[in-house]
Amino acid sequence: MALYSEKVMEHFMHPRNVGVIEDADGVGEVGNAKCGDIMKMYLKIDNDIITDVKFETFGCASAIASSSMATELIKGQRVEDAMELTNKAVAEALDGLPDYKMHCSVLAEEAIQAALEDYQNKKSNQK
Ligand code: FES
Repeated sequence: MALYSEKVMEHFMHPRNVGVIEDADGVGEVGNAKCGDIMKMYLKIDNDIITDVKFETFGCASAIASSSMATELIKGQRVEDAMELTNKAVAEALDGLPDYKMHCSVLAEEAIQAALEDYQNKKSNQK
């Protein structure tokens, strides 16, 4: 069996939503100390709906594919639903990742959580 699914390869070769949102409502950056990879997520949120999302990932193929898939999964979602996104769901949407690459999908979950927390902190500071 090939190491990576076709979906992983496809998202790695043609990642969706790469870039920066300058006036993002939430930004989250996380890293994995072991491999040194870094992921940054930018969210645009309107009325608690994620209207746009972009990412920058300095990392392995699985991390890039996971960020790409994760952005697709949460775009258009409500904040509370995006909070529930797990790395397992990201990996499943990619038709699986090798066991020793599952931690790469964890970065995507954590980056989104961090960006959502940033959004919620900013929101509560405005009150
Ligand atoms: Fe570091 Fe994949 S090896 S995120």
